[in-house]
Amino acid sequence: MYANSLVELIGNTPLLHLRSLSNEQRNIRVFGKLECHNPGYSVKDRSALQLLRQAERDYGLKPGWSIVESTSGNMGHALAMLCAIHGYRFICVLDPKTPKANANVVRAFGGQVEMVNQPDETGSYQKKRIAVAKSLAATTPNCINLDQYNNPAAIDAHYYSTGPEIVNQLSGKVDAVVVSASTGSHLSGIARYLKERDSRTHVIGVEPEGSVVFGGVYVPHLQNGSGLSFKPGNILTDLVDETVKVSDRHAFAGCHRLALDEGLLLGGSSGSIAHAARCYVERLNDPANIVLVLPDSGVKYLETIYDDEWLSAHRLHDILRDLDTATEATEAHALALESL
Ligand SMILES: Cc1ncc(COP(=O)(O)O)c(C=O)c1O
Repeated sequence: MYANSLVELIGNTPLLHLRSLSNEQRNIRVFGKLECHNPGYSVKDRSALQLLRQAERDYGLKPGWSIVESTSGNMGHALAMLCAIHGYRFICVLDPKTPKANANVVRAFGGQVEMVNQPDETGSYQKKRIAVAKSLAATTPNCINLDQYNNPAAIDAHYYSTGPEIVNQLSGKVDAVVVSASTGSHLSGIARYLKERDSRTHVIGVEPEGSVVFGGVYVPHLQNGSGLSFKPGNILTDLVDETVKVSDRHAFAGCHRLALDEGLLLGGSSGSIAHAARCYVERLNDPANIVLVLPDSGVKYLETIYDDEWLSAHRLHDILRDLDTATEATEAHALALESL
């Protein structure tokens, strides 16, 4: 069996039982939905595909036309890849917080990079990036700004694919999901699908400390990908039962713990989700199946989260001390499993 197009390889990502986060004695099982298995290595492949389909249907997007989008990285990768195979030109608006490799990925797919170098008054680049994308769309002939922050097509992508996949993979037994948010698109799509099936499904939304998707005051942070300096239209907060803000320290320690305990090399938002899930499991009494939607691969962060010098430069080197505790907890857990 083979695929006729890369598009056919988007979605149907694996679900992995995460033993280090589960508690078998209390019948609490935690699973990770590995979105890094998409062809562009992130959850954004699904959103990008649906946004392009909608632009083809509603705006007559055709080969030779241009797409412009503001992104912190993964959407840029996904759109650059899909634009390459569809014959669309792609202009990607990035900022210096984005790992340099992401700009190279866009160029490798034939895309053009526009860098926004000045942050706004809050210290974030996001609003300025969006303004640049809108102005490029207005001044470039046959150019569409997809607006991943407010476009419901990005929610649909997950309502029609990620949500149903999770339910099928667990034969309908999903008690809770832990999902990170930036535009809110994948959280809203997954939550809407799960809540329509069973309104008791517990939805936990996660964002970096300092991000304001779920409210609060914006403070610059190191986590890249999840989080925003404003509340986007695509976050449907009435579908979220609980929100958690995770510090850079806990998010990055969460990444290293996933690597050591599960052999998973994932990005910062996955680390923050793992941290939030660990706290949730600790206070849970009843048996449950909990799904963590793990957005992207750690390969993109080898020069940041997984680089000792970078961690030291940001006074985060001592997260390794927290990891010792993690290893002890994992060892205790493994011993408990053996004695069952
Ligand atoms: C690594 C990572 N995690 C989480 C998110 C949040 O996804 P969404 O925009 O669907 O809220 C993103 C979005 O870019 C991301 O790149």
